[in-house]
Amino acid sequence: MSAGTSISRVWPTPATGPLTDPELAALYGRADRPHLRVNFVASADGAVALAGYSAGLSGAPDKRVFGLLRMLCDGLVVAAGTLRHEGYRAVRLSEDRRAWRREHGLTEYPTLVVVSGSLDLDPAQACFADAPVRPLVLTRAGVEPPPGLTEVADLVRCGAERVDLAAGLAELRRRGLDQLLCEGGPQLFGALTAADLVDELCLTVAPLLAGAGPGRITAGDESPARPLPLRHVLAAADGVLMLRYARDPGAAPSAGAAPAA
Ligand SMILES: NC(=O)c1ccc[n+]([C@@H]2O[C@H](COP(=O)([O-])OP(=O)(O)OC[C@H]3O[C@@H](n4cnc5c(N)ncnc54)[C@H](OP(=O)(O)O)[C@@H]3O)[C@@H](O)[C@H]2O)c1
Repeated sequence: MSAGTSISRVWPTPATGPLTDPELAALYGRADRPHLRVNFVASADGAVALAGYSAGLSGAPDKRVFGLLRMLCDGLVVAAGTLRHEGYRAVRLSEDRRAWRREHGLTEYPTLVVVSGSLDLDPAQACFADAPVRPLVLTRAGVEPPPGLTEVADLVRCGAERVDLAAGLAELRRRGLDQLLCEGGPQLFGALTAADLVDELCLTVAPLLAGAGPGRITAGDESPARPLPLRHVLAAADGVLMLRYARDPGAAPSAGAAPAA
């Protein structure tokens, strides 16, 4: 771990030294029941992107946790908008993280799950073409896939007019993908919130003002406010905060040790 990726715990119990990867993995953990974790980075004034991309908000500590959360999940859920816009590549994990997954009885890589109502997806995009595990696409009935898509991904059809996210998540769990990590984007997060499917939000707050213009990390139709208790606050040396909110105390971390990679 370099000084640039150093992360310390500041709440609820301040820790004296920087956290190792095993300590971080234990703090985030895997829940003891089906669980949907959402991970976002935002500016201090709530922007979801800088110049249209999340990269301008992210830095070394955020990338460290981002990779660690991928290590911990069974399924990596991403909306088609973010997949297209951010040019998602194939999911890759370091050898240490793959070894950690093997030791914990998991497949070497999580399964990528793309949510798309239109199936306007490019089978040649690296997230499909180079995927280490065949991705799933959650979609709805009656939408024709583009040529080549079913050669590189399996379609899961849930819902008629729109993708039924509750039914989609239930199907993922039926296929053994219990621990889900959603990397956005905002429309999908808004829809998951509206359907009351979000168990946890991991939010990195970058210490900058993005100003007016960019949207928030959530978008779409209004939905009722829902309490989401704070579970931990971590801080990186450059003033980045990492907040973990989770609604169910029963979903406490249970991951055990992770590699110091
Ligand atoms: N700061 C961060 O951590 C972060 C994370 C992720 C994304 N972002 C940013 O967010 C922006 C992209 O956002 P976006 O507006 O494109 O939103 P999005 O939620 O990424 O994508 C919206 C698209 O995803 C599919 N989708 C989402 N929810 C769906 C649902 N309930 N049912 C069916 N399909 C659903 C649809 O795809 P189809 O059109 O194929 O039907 C929809 O058009 C980019 O600027 C990106 O950089 C930031």
